[in-house]
Amino acid sequence: GLDRSEIAKRAAAKAALDLVRDGMRLGLGTGSTAKWFVDLLGERARAEGLDLTCVATSLRTARQAESAGLKVVTLDEAGWLDLTVDGADEFDPDLNLIKGGGGALLQEKIVATASDRMVVIADQSKQVEHLGAFPLPVEIVTFGWETTKAIVEETLEDMDVAGTLTTLRMDGDEPFVTDCGNFIIDCRLKRIGDADELAAQLNAIPGVVETGLFIDICDRVIVGYEDGGVEVLE
Ligand code: A5P
Repeated sequence: GLDRSEIAKRAAAKAALDLVRDGMRLGLGTGSTAKWFVDLLGERARAEGLDLTCVATSLRTARQAESAGLKVVTLDEAGWLDLTVDGADEFDPDLNLIKGGGGALLQEKIVATASDRMVVIADQSKQVEHLGAFPLPVEIVTFGWETTKAIVEETLEDMDVAGTLTTLRMDGDEPFVTDCGNFIIDCRLKRIGDADELAAQLNAIPGVVETGLFIDICDRVIVGYEDGGVEVLE
């Protein structure tokens, strides 16, 4: 059988499937919860002969979707999307998010922003009162990355949100490289007060590409529970 957190993730993914209609253009997220959605979507599309056009937020998801028999195109081929379904590392009562634990935050944010609706699917462990216990991923360009990292740290200090360490994300002995060819630094913070202001300050640093703060992007969170139930937050 499935372990309990997988039951919760699957329940959320299954509930999101009900939002899918024939002919939709869909954004597909990245991570273990989004993976459930892609699997279930492939099954349903096959069973019902649905004509869906999908845009993936990572190479990993693109491969999975293709092997599930889904039609995958680039965002520019699709243009605007009807719905994006993705996971999250944290969500708060205002449906603001931290994402990027899986390293796909930049494409995830671009795809979510290009969608009429973004629905997050997550197990209950992702629910927080205040964002920031999960280390905030910040995607930075490789050129001058140590300088950029130092400026990010200084900015966090100035805003009084710096926690302990800020670290370059690794993949074994090498820096982790995103699908867009960038690095990620993981920022351990104290409680984030003004998430909007923090995102703005970080985005203003030249070497910063994007942060994992998703503010006012998500329209609905489907929370999955370990008993297989779900709750919808809007
Ligand atoms: C990928 O970059 C992330 O934003 C994921 O959406 C996030 O890490 C959630 O992943 P899980 O569903 O595996 O927890």
